[in-house]
Amino acid sequence: MTKIIAMAGKGGTGKTTTSALLTRYLLKNKLTPFLLVDADANANLNELLNLEVDVTLGQIRKELKSELPPNVTRDQFMEMKIHQALIEDTGFDLLVMGQPDGPGCYCAANQYLAMTMDKLSPNYKFILVDNEAGMEHLSRMNIRSVDYLLVTSDPSARGILTAKRISDITEPLGLEVKNQYLLVNRAPQPVPPALQGKIDEAIADSGMTLGGIIPSSDVLINQELSGESYLNLKDTDDIILTVNEIFDGIFS
Ligand SMILES: Nc1ncnc2c1ncn2[C@@H]1O[C@H](COP(=O)(O)OP(=O)(O)OP(=O)(O)O)[C@@H](O)[C@H]1O
Ligand SMILES: [Mg+2]
Repeated sequence: MTKIIAMAGKGGTGKTTTSALLTRYLLKNKLTPFLLVDADANANLNELLNLEVDVTLGQIRKELKSELPPNVTRDQFMEMKIHQALIEDTGFDLLVMGQPDGPGCYCAANQYLAMTMDKLSPNYKFILVDNEAGMEHLSRMNIRSVDYLLVTSDPSARGILTAKRISDITEPLGLEVKNQYLLVNRAPQPVPPALQGKIDEAIADSGMTLGGIIPSSDVLINQELSGESYLNLKDTDDIILTVNEIFDGIFS
């Protein structure tokens, strides 16, 4: 069975960074093949992995609304195009959602997308969805059930409270979440007792388990600035040792 991992969390708290580090972890542990979905309109996961994006699903949706080639059904066209949009790398594929094409309802196009996702998903052990702050992309892709929801937070009282609110809205959204984890990112070391108190409160009062605390890391900042792939970070880097231990706790 394909397991779905979804990122959630306020803007800028580390969803894409965590997705890139998790990509590295899944590859190193041969938890392959997996599919990465960049569901952020302002896609940038590919940049952290140094992958070129040719076609996004947003562009395909636009084409679906115009004339189709003769003798091709919408189903066939969509399937063909989705395969074109799949960026294939060793051990994983990447699919980029891209910009939605303006306001209004594109229910038909989204339905085709959801159908194609259903067809694609059995090919993978994991599907990892890097979201924007909201979670509406999951419903657009017709994902009603998530195996692992990873909620990132900055190391602030309001950040932790927002993470808790995100966790709380999954149920009213009708999203079935099997396991949910709080990841507190960019935390000062040692963790201030007041922050630890806020984390403990949020955990006690929500469906989340504490996945782990990720320190602020110069290695990550420099890797991002250099434009080099996060897949090339070293096994011996402190940040890699820390996040790998966190992922071991979650995925094994
Ligand atoms: N542990 C960390 N140490 C140092 N810098 C970090 C760390 N985690 C994330 N960053 C930096 O913080 C910034 C925001 O991180 P990231 O893009 O992963 O957040 P995001 O939640 O995906 O944001 P958005 O909501 O805009 O998609 C990036 O510049 C990233 O390099
Ligand atoms: Mg992001």
